[in-house]
Amino acid sequence: MVKHDIQINTQYRRFLQTDITEIEELGRGSGGVLNSATSKPLAVYKDEEGKMHKYSALCPHMKGVVCWNDVEKSFDCPVHGSRFSKDGIRVVGPAKANLAPADNKAGAEDQEYAGGSSM
Ligand code: FES
Repeated sequence: MVKHDIQINTQYRRFLQTDITEIEELGRGSGGVLNSATSKPLAVYKDEEGKMHKYSALCPHMKGVVCWNDVEKSFDCPVHGSRFSKDGIRVVGPAKANLAPADNKAGAEDQEYAGGSSM
């Protein structure tokens, strides 16, 4: 119970944090979470060609805010351990959906299940 409370408190703090302040500051092949005060947090990945890929940074499991993992090149959810590829595709559950594209108004619930096991 205490461990879970610590996780939740950490997660709420994460809503106030931002990994990057400007999308343009990202290097190629790198990602981060942009958390502006005026909108929902964005998971952003800049590919090797310099093209930006933007997703909702809210985990489709229980709306935790994902973090960029520069070693694995993935977006990881610190709450229950879901992991998403740099392209927002679910790699490991318990989330059952991909990260929602930033321009997807319908949300993650409408996305295709990427397969694999879930907890
Ligand atoms: S909220 Fe992300 S794995 Fe549960």
